[in-house]
Amino acid sequence: MDGVTVINHPLVQHKLTIMRRKETSTSSFRRLLREISTLLCYEVTRDLELTMETIETPLTEMQSPILEGKKLVFASILRAGNGLLEGMLELVPAARVAHVGVYRDHETLQAVEYYFKAPDALSERLVIVVDPMLATGNSSIAAIEKLKERGAKNIRFLCLLAAPEGIKNFQAAHPDVPIFTASIDSHLNEKGYIMPGLGDAGDRMYGTK
Ligand code: URA
Repeated sequence: MDGVTVINHPLVQHKLTIMRRKETSTSSFRRLLREISTLLCYEVTRDLELTMETIETPLTEMQSPILEGKKLVFASILRAGNGLLEGMLELVPAARVAHVGVYRDHETLQAVEYYFKAPDALSERLVIVVDPMLATGNSSIAAIEKLKERGAKNIRFLCLLAAPEGIKNFQAAHPDVPIFTASIDSHLNEKGYIMPGLGDAGDRMYGTK
């Protein structure tokens, strides 16, 4: 599918299967989410630009590659996005973090922002927006609208599972934002859950109902 990268690394797929099982405990789910997010982060950053820097090893001077540009931003869509942050920050400890809380007003269909905190100079940074589930796409579409309003231009979206309906809505709203996911599932059910899915990601990681 155009604009969508499915990360089918065997370790990602293996961990995802365990996360989907209904009997997987909260503590296991959280640990797996941290592990899988590290692997997803590796893939979503695979083509970051490098620049050459002159350094001195204990033996000699050399030209060596280092990440170019300003520190990247991981933008978590509250609350489930936070579950992906820990593992990603393990891999990119210098990344800056944004938090975005949004919901779609059912009557006006406008994105209502209840929380927004982001580092400066969003327009000069790569912003990787994270949310485990791309279901209807409403919250990720709204969160990205808010990030764009603050200047973000270079954006990628990373999730664990995506529904075809969500991908369609998302791409209609943000055709410039590539999607990275571990799986494209079958469909959304009448309650907006991804099928076969893994249930409510926030509830599963935090032990709520
Ligand atoms: N959000 C979730 O956590 N799970 C779904 O299946 C859909 C949206």
